[in-house]
Amino acid sequence: MLSPLVVLSLISSLLQPAVAVYIDMEGLPDTGLNTSSWVTGVLPPLDDLWDTNDFQIAAKNVLSGAYYADYRTGALNEYTYQANLGIYSQVKLNGFAFRDVSNLQTNTTILGYNFTQPFFIAPAADAGHANKSAEASLAQAAGKAGILYVPSISSTLSIEQIAAAGVDGQVMFHQEYVWANQSRIIDELDRIKAAGFKAIFLTVDNTGINGVRTRSMRFNAESDTGHSVNFNLNSLAAFRNLTTLPIVPKGIKSWQDAVTCLNLGFPAIYVSNHGGRVLDGVPTSVEILMDIRQNAPQVFDEMEVYADGGVRRGTDALILLALGARAVGLGRPPMFANIWGEAGVARMISLFGTEMATSMRLMGVENVNQLNTSYVNTNGITL
Ligand SMILES: Cc1cc2nc3c(=O)[nH]c(=O)nc-3n(C[C@H](O)[C@H](O)[C@H](O)COP(=O)(O)O)c2cc1C
Ligand SMILES: *[C@@H]1O[C@H](CO)[C@@H](O)[C@H](O)[C@H]1NC(C)=O
Ligand SMILES: *[C@@H]1O[C@H](CO)[C@@H](O)[C@H](O)[C@H]1NC(C)=O
Ligand SMILES: *[C@@H]1O[C@H](CO)[C@@H](O)[C@H](O)[C@H]1NC(C)=O
Ligand SMILES: *[C@@H]1O[C@H](CO)[C@@H](O)[C@H](O)[C@H]1NC(C)=O
Ligand SMILES: *[C@@H]1O[C@H](CO)[C@@H](O)[C@H](O)[C@H]1NC(C)=O
Ligand SMILES: *[C@@H]1O[C@H](CO)[C@@H](O)[C@H](O)[C@H]1NC(C)=O
Ligand SMILES: *[C@@H]1O[C@H](CO)[C@@H](O)[C@H](O)[C@H]1NC(C)=O
Repeated sequence: MLSPLVVLSLISSLLQPAVAVYIDMEGLPDTGLNTSSWVTGVLPPLDDLWDTNDFQIAAKNVLSGAYYADYRTGALNEYTYQANLGIYSQVKLNGFAFRDVSNLQTNTTILGYNFTQPFFIAPAADAGHANKSAEASLAQAAGKAGILYVPSISSTLSIEQIAAAGVDGQVMFHQEYVWANQSRIIDELDRIKAAGFKAIFLTVDNTGINGVRTRSMRFNAESDTGHSVNFNLNSLAAFRNLTTLPIVPKGIKSWQDAVTCLNLGFPAIYVSNHGGRVLDGVPTSVEILMDIRQNAPQVFDEMEVYADGGVRRGTDALILLALGARAVGLGRPPMFANIWGEAGVARMISLFGTEMATSMRLMGVENVNQLNTSYVNTNGITL
């Protein structure tokens, strides 16, 4: 026979099914996040979140299954998605003592424009799935923090709405896809320039198809992209003639393509595997940067290189910078933080900036532009 106490607790647990939420943490690092007082579907207090992984778990607790899958998904088995997160643990940081690091400088230039940090908000579609303010709060948080934001062409808000949402004098770039519809490209490039964006990140890694994203397909995610399937070097040359804005090819995954872009006179390339969302099985940015350095080191001297993928901690950004990136993109973290709107994105940027600045000091690096390969040991990684 059950004791009255047990019966009482059984009844009370039946009356409060929403409480005592269980969240699968997906193997993310355990830093003591306590979700036991969270309620499914209810935003936990922003003050409880202390790093980008916390924001992801909170997002998982709040977003619909479909929207969470849409932001979170990788392609196929998500080997590349997982490798992006895991690769940083295989790189050792070299820290040096006996250095004055009192005058810490994290600011840098990207295509000649001044920013307070060498990390930026990468293009990511459909910010409106997190919060009605959508890309507007990403633009505002970035503008107030003095960092670069590069909205996606598949944004919830229009090109003009995002431009208008920025703060006075804010410099933003804009992402573009290679649409099969040429008039659409011409129209969008003209609007991007007219709205005041200063450069184009041209995504070149998913011509025709986005990749098979099983996790989001389960929710009937759309697969037709409208991207061109016959985009080649001739169409790239034709594309460059359509705008006077600088163009940065995004989604470079090999040293050969990096050299092609260098020889074609691009001012920069963006090394990325699209957050593991396109071709599953490709290398991480750490490996791609190492491969470029091994086979075509001139790329780093002659053009700017940006990189992204799985950057969740300030130290991850420092690793990519040390391997030759000038600036590092964050894809999912700002999208998850944007559930709280501008305040969430601002907190994420601030926490990430603190991690980076603190780790720089501890490594004996005063200025981000001093970071080079002497600060990382990549012996654990074979290409
Ligand atoms: C929800 C989502 C939407 C994205 N949409 C775009 C896009 O429209 N254009 C693009 O070039 N990249 C897009 N990306 C890729 C990001 O720009 C970036 O390369 C990637 O997210 C970096 O990896 P991370 O999420 O691990 O930081 C998207 C990524 C996510 C997570
Ligand atoms: C988590 O929080 C709950 C209540 O908010 C508390 O009872 C519990 O002790 C906490 N767990 C840990 C491991 O701190
Ligand atoms: C960073 O800011 C300082 C102070 O304004 C300036 O002297 C320095 O040139 C800047 N660094 C870069 C790389 O722009
Ligand atoms: C960028 O920073 C440099 C050095 O701090 C400064 O000389 C320059 O005027 C700044 N440019 C803009 C556009 O603010
Ligand atoms: C191509 O793009 C133009 C400009 O955006 C648009 O007016 C037109 O409807 C598009 N054509 C097709 C077939 O989608
Ligand atoms: C691009 O423009 C240049 C100069 O106007 C021209 O010589 C070249 O043929 C154009 N290229 C393409 C592919 O349209
Ligand atoms: C959504 O974003 C807006 C604008 O930043 C903010 O005021 C609002 O609180 C956010 N919504 C939630 C639920 O936090
Ligand atoms: C890296 O930077 C350090 C200190 O700034 C410098 O002494 C060293 O020569 C540089 N090493 C390489 C490989 O460029």
